[in-house]
Amino acid sequence: MEKQKTAWFLRGNWAPTQQEHDTTELKVEGSIPPELNGVYVRTGPNPASGSGDHWFLGDGMVHGIRIQNGNALWYRNRFVQTPDITDPLTDPMAGLGDLRRGKGNTHIMAHNKKILCLEEAHWPWTIDADLNTVGYENFDGALTCSMTAHPKICPLTGELLAFSYFSFEQPYLQYIRVGADGKLKQIEGIELPEMVMMHDFNITENYVIFMDLPLALDLNLLASGIPFRFKRENQARLGVMPRNGCAEDIRWFEINPCYVFHQVNAWEQGDIITLFVSKQNSAFGADSGDFSEVSRLHRWQINLATGQVTEEKVDDRPGDFGRVNDRFVGQQSQFGYLMALDGEGNSEEPSYGPKLYQYDLISGHCNEHDLGAGTRGAEPVYAPVPSSKAENDGWVMCLVHNEHANKSKLVIIDADNFAAAPVASIELPYPVPYGAHGNWIEDRQLN
Ligand SMILES: [Fe+2]
Repeated sequence: MEKQKTAWFLRGNWAPTQQEHDTTELKVEGSIPPELNGVYVRTGPNPASGSGDHWFLGDGMVHGIRIQNGNALWYRNRFVQTPDITDPLTDPMAGLGDLRRGKGNTHIMAHNKKILCLEEAHWPWTIDADLNTVGYENFDGALTCSMTAHPKICPLTGELLAFSYFSFEQPYLQYIRVGADGKLKQIEGIELPEMVMMHDFNITENYVIFMDLPLALDLNLLASGIPFRFKRENQARLGVMPRNGCAEDIRWFEINPCYVFHQVNAWEQGDIITLFVSKQNSAFGADSGDFSEVSRLHRWQINLATGQVTEEKVDDRPGDFGRVNDRFVGQQSQFGYLMALDGEGNSEEPSYGPKLYQYDLISGHCNEHDLGAGTRGAEPVYAPVPSSKAENDGWVMCLVHNEHANKSKLVIIDADNFAAAPVASIELPYPVPYGAHGNWIEDRQLN
C-alpha cells in the first residue's frame, strides 16, 4: 500500500514542536540597538498533539525574544493555554460555538496594555510579556461574536477596529469598534450575500474598508475543517463605511474576483482612498490546504466621487505579509515591507521566500534584503526608534530560518539601510517552526 505523504505543515521546519524552552544563552552577532526595549513575539499554529487536519487549526504557540539595553535577555516559547490545551475535547465538534475555544495562533499585538493572541473564529486570548497565558478577552463580556486576527489599531485614536465574519447566519459580517480604554463601543451587523472568509481589512482616518471577496462557505467542505471555496462567479466588492457609522452607510464598490489575505496599508486623500494589498487571482486551489496561488503587491484606488475603482500591479514578483510602521496605519505611509514569496505554483507548502522587500509606496521603488542562501523569511515587523516620529527611523525585525543549518535567528535590519547586512542577528538555540504573524511590543506599550 502506498504510504500517505505527510502534510506539509507537519514536516520540515513547519512541523510543530512539543517542547517549551527557556534560555538566556543567546549568541548575538553585531550589536542590538540600545533603544530597543521590549519583546519580539510571533505566534503560529503548532498542534500540541503533533498532528492535525489543517495548518490553520493548530494550537497557538508564541515564540518570544526579550531585548533590553542592547542585550538579548531570553528566548522562550509557550503554548497559548486555551481550553484546547487545558481541557481538550475528544469530539472537537462539541466545542462548536464556544467562543473561548480560540487558538491564539494567527496574530499577536498589544492594545490597552494587554497582549492579544488572535485567531479569527473565536475570542482573543491574552498573555503577559513573559508569555504566560492570562485568559480570554471579550471586553467585559461585550463581545458576543468572534473577532478577526487582523484588527487595526488606529495610531491617532488608540481605537482597535475589527470585524467578525465567522457566523453561519446573518449578519455574516459584524464591525467591532473598541476604544483605547479597552471598552467595546460598537458592534454593527452587516448583511452579506454569503458567508465569506474575510481574513483582513483596512482603515483610514475616517473609514473602514471591508473586502467581500468570493472565498465563500461551501457546506460540502465542512468535514475538511476549512469549509471555504473560491466561487469566481460571485461578486467581489469593497465596502467603505465611516468608522463611527452604521451598516446603512456602507457604499459597495465592485471589483474583479480575487483574493487578499493581507493588506499592507490604506489611507484617504479627499475623495480617493488608496489601499495597498497583496492580491492573488483566487485562493485555495485544489482544496483549503493548497497555497500554490501566490499574491503580489497591488494598489487599489477607490474614487468616492465617481464610484470608480482602479487597480495597479506594483510588482510582478510575489510578496505578502506586508507591514508598515504601525504609527502610520491608516495614514499615508511611504514605506511598506513585504516578505518575498518563492516557488509559484508550489502546492507542497506555502512559499516563504528568501528576501524581504522595502517598497517606496509613493514612487514604486523597491529595495531588497537578501536573507542568504537556504534561508526563508517571515513577516517583516517594524520597530521604531521610540523618540523619533520619522517614518523610517527604526528597524525591521524578522524571525528567519536557515534550512541547511536548521537554525533560526531574529534579524534586526536598519530600515534606512535596508539592503545591508542586519545590524544584529540573535541566534536561537532551537529551530523555530515557520509561523504566522508577529510584533515588536515595546515595554512602554504595556506600562
Ligand atoms: Fe494573516
